[in-house]
Amino acid sequence: MEQSLSYDNRIDSESSEQVVNPWEVSAKDGGKIDYDKLIDRFGCKRLDESLIDRVERLTGRQPHKFLRRGVFFAHRDFNEILDAYESGERFYLYTGRGPSSEALHLGHLIPFMFTKYLQEAFKVPLVIQLTDDEKFMWKNLTVEESERLARENARDIIACGFDVTKTFIFSDFDHVGGAFYKNMVKVSKCVTLNKAKGIFGFSGEDHIGKLSFPAVQAAPSFPSSFPHLFPGMDKLRCLIPCAIDQDPYFRMTRDVAPRLGYSKPALIESSFFPALQAKNGKMSASDPNSAIYVTDTAKDIKNKINKAKSGGHQFSGVQRQLGADLEKDIPFKYLSVFLEDDSELELIRKQYGEKEGIMQTGDVKKRVTEVLTEIVERHRRARAAVTDEMVEAFMAVRPLPSMFE
Ligand code: TYM
Ligand code: TRP
Repeated sequence: MEQSLSYDNRIDSESSEQVVNPWEVSAKDGGKIDYDKLIDRFGCKRLDESLIDRVERLTGRQPHKFLRRGVFFAHRDFNEILDAYESGERFYLYTGRGPSSEALHLGHLIPFMFTKYLQEAFKVPLVIQLTDDEKFMWKNLTVEESERLARENARDIIACGFDVTKTFIFSDFDHVGGAFYKNMVKVSKCVTLNKAKGIFGFSGEDHIGKLSFPAVQAAPSFPSSFPHLFPGMDKLRCLIPCAIDQDPYFRMTRDVAPRLGYSKPALIESSFFPALQAKNGKMSASDPNSAIYVTDTAKDIKNKINKAKSGGHQFSGVQRQLGADLEKDIPFKYLSVFLEDDSELELIRKQYGEKEGIMQTGDVKKRVTEVLTEIVERHRRARAAVTDEMVEAFMAVRPLPSMFE
């Protein structure tokens, strides 16, 4: 049974256990999120080994490391997307970014890197929503500044390597209207104020702009919102890769979809890339000391990693005797997300995490600094190569004739 809307955001905030919603991710207990509990409460499913094996069979390639290592760990109806794909049906991908800051942090790259892999592996079209309206309403930003940040963030997203013949990037300020707006009002009409309060924790003090926003994030889940892309394809299914903080929006979307005669979007959800000090549940753009940004220099990265929370022991004798607590070790967690080579990761896990290993905290920090510096530098080069014309090309309202090839 899908719990979808029985979960009430307010209960979480009041019991001050862990809070996970689009605006806040926090947990008692040293910021450690209990993901099993989250799956239970939200009513999604764990992404198990058999689904990952199916992805491998259907795409004919090794599943992405984020799948192999459980970075993406939960889903809703992903199995149905695979069933449909297997029987020759196609689907489209939808993801997004709320442009609240100039630079993305490494956590933001996770859904985009993963979406790029999905796009390549399944050969499907992708829509990317930049919610400049959302950030105008939630943050202290002018309309013009939110619009500017959306375009700057579009460059970072394009730098992740998306295929322009299969990808449409749009900003809400530019694109809301027409068929998209019709879907928004249809969604809005299905959600009562009480329901919105339950899902998002809105209160009487919140301005009505906030109440109106979830319908904007819901609309791209329906192919009829994009008549230039999917004409006559109203049954095309949608798969949304995102971190699990976005789940409330799509719980609401899935709840209303059948009443509009639409299929529910499927989701594939990641855990959070943790903050440097592991204090909050996630790396967050609103706390610069928690995050490594794609604009950081090699020196910044080195300094930040040196101060990151470690699960190792200060004295080498003790470290060798006991091994590090990998659950608490941020440098190791970062390696387990971004290090490409499975066998090297396994070696570090043994040599650092187990007794009698030869690796010390400093060795692991040095390795993760190299890995992250390389990613950030590659990103910087790719971003520098993104011209204004390329941004225009990705954001142009146009058909994508070879989007399924
Ligand atoms: P935003 O800009 O807060 O985040 C963009 C994407 O990054 C994910 N994310 C993270 N993933 C891993 N570790 C982290 N520490 C971390 N922090 C953020 C988010 O879950 C998201 O996938 N309202 C949205 C924009 C949006 C959207 C969407 C996102 C509109 N439509 C559809 C996903 C799918 C937002 O402000 O995201
Ligand atoms: N709290 C989010 C962050 O720091 C930003 C945010 C504000 C947000 N309002 C939102 C995210 C609404 C999603 C939806 O990254």
